[in-house]
Amino acid sequence: MKLKSSKRSNSGFLISFEGGEGGGKSTQIRHLVKYFTDHNIPVVLTLEPGGTKIGSKIRKILLDPKNTEISHRAELLLYLADRAQHVEECILPALKAGKVVISDRYADSSNVYQGICRKLGLEWTMALNDYATDGLYPNIAIILDIPEKIGLARVQQRILTQKFNHKSSNAQLDRMENEKVAFHKKVRQGFLLLSKKYPKRIQVINAALSEEEVKSAIQKLIRNRIQKMKGQSLWKKLEQ
Ligand SMILES: Nc1ncnc2c1ncn2[C@@H]1O[C@H](COP(=O)(O)OP(=O)(O)OP(=O)(O)O)[C@@H](O)[C@H]1O
Ligand SMILES: [Mg+2]
Repeated sequence: MKLKSSKRSNSGFLISFEGGEGGGKSTQIRHLVKYFTDHNIPVVLTLEPGGTKIGSKIRKILLDPKNTEISHRAELLLYLADRAQHVEECILPALKAGKVVISDRYADSSNVYQGICRKLGLEWTMALNDYATDGLYPNIAIILDIPEKIGLARVQQRILTQKFNHKSSNAQLDRMENEKVAFHKKVRQGFLLLSKKYPKRIQVINAALSEEEVKSAIQKLIRNRIQKMKGQSLWKKLEQ
């Protein structure tokens, strides 16, 4: 069945950060939020799963290391339920108010983790993403690409640091992070494959570089993309 998707008109700008674990999504999102705020551009930072009250309940189910019995289809549908609520309650209202929205993961994560890695099929995840988002896709999806072993080592290091600082004494790997290295290798290949399929919408950044270098590369990418939307008030503010 071919699903009909409606492109919703809005004056905002949606950015998603994607990629495997430990690529530096949270780190770089913090930098980008500051970049927009410094230019007086209203920005909303959100995440998947868990960007809404209902979503945070779904997140608990999805990431609980004890929930080993979730079927692949149930897993996909839980992510999609979270996304549908997220678009309706959080993302779309902010875009309609002309804000920049940055989401830590969005539709492409389902395409890669469930469609490719869990082998549910890209045709299914893409059609179901169309349905869940009502056709709302990011102006730009940024993939922080990193060799899986480096990404996982960074996550392990982050957990050790958190434990050391007693910030979170029970910090541990979540259900997705617990997957084997081979799975994370497939995740990386999946994102790269998707970026080749949609080279305009999806941009790859080398996340193995230093934090500062990655930060500059992202800013350059965003400026270029926003500049192309000349006449937009967003670009005028970035130019200031
Ligand atoms: N460019 C970088 N070079 C070295 N270390 C980095 C870099 N970027 C982030 N880190 C560190 O790597 C760890 C993981 O980064 P971060 O939490 O931002 O990744 P993430 O993609 O959000 O991970 P997750 O998938 O678990 O949410 C953190 O301890 C962070 O300080
Ligand atoms: Mg993160």
